[in-house]
Amino acid sequence: MSMNWGMANRLARIIKPEDGRAVMLAVDHGYFLGPTSGLEEPRKTIEPLIPYADSIMLTRGVLRTSVDARADKPVVLRVSGGTSILKELSNEDITVSIDDCIRLNVSAMALSIFVGSEFEKETLVSLAKLVDEGEKYGIPVLAVTAVGKDMARDVRYLGLSCRIAAELGAHIVKTYYCDDFEQLIESCPIPVIIAGGKKTPEMEALELAHNAVTHGAVGVDMGRNIFQSDSPVGMIKAVRAIVHENVSVKEAYKIYESAKGAKPKRAAG
Ligand code: 5RP
Repeated sequence: MSMNWGMANRLARIIKPEDGRAVMLAVDHGYFLGPTSGLEEPRKTIEPLIPYADSIMLTRGVLRTSVDARADKPVVLRVSGGTSILKELSNEDITVSIDDCIRLNVSAMALSIFVGSEFEKETLVSLAKLVDEGEKYGIPVLAVTAVGKDMARDVRYLGLSCRIAAELGAHIVKTYYCDDFEQLIESCPIPVIIAGGKKTPEMEALELAHNAVTHGAVGVDMGRNIFQSDSPVGMIKAVRAIVHENVSVKEAYKIYESAKGAKPKRAAG
């Protein structure tokens, strides 16, 4: 992809050029979920995790109120919203101007697309408009493939959403891990990052991260499986080791366990 210097520089702050990988901490959930479990007091959740994230994904409200402006951490700003869990989720619009994105010194702008949902067209057109704005100022766009209630999270559907995001000009796409993930990667010409999804046991979340990077994702943008864990710092350290150091799931789990202060379980036999 040919791109201007500012765009390339911002992207390099998110996807580390040393290994082409990225650990993004997702704490934007409140934009439609309100006070999400584990994120009731954003500053308390975010502060201890920041040192282990390459970038943070959040809304401008949480950025301004809950993150120290002197923190040298690239920001992926959630710029779509206007909905809540009480109504049709796909009815999103762009909620932040490009001027404010520049003022906030963001490294990327994130917007959800709802392929197959009621407001599919509006969200796709918003993506295209956001890309136009981002291109003017060298700010990359991360498209988030949001999944409607009735959508199967399979390679056919997620592959369709990711490819459309790339065709409309997104620079990175965030999606879910699925069976035959390599097919999705092969048919998507931009870097793919995976979301963690609902909280699962720590071992499963680490397996997900491991599978994703092994099968071609550049990294993870994980939220609930980190901040809803009994050891958020342990989990982000473990995820980081998988993404940047290629450690096994077993080794990563040990990192999580030792951060939690629990004694590793004795091997059977
Ligand atoms: C919501 C988002 C979240 O940032 C995304 O789902 C990642 O968080 P989690 O790992 O909790 O799924 O984009 O639309």
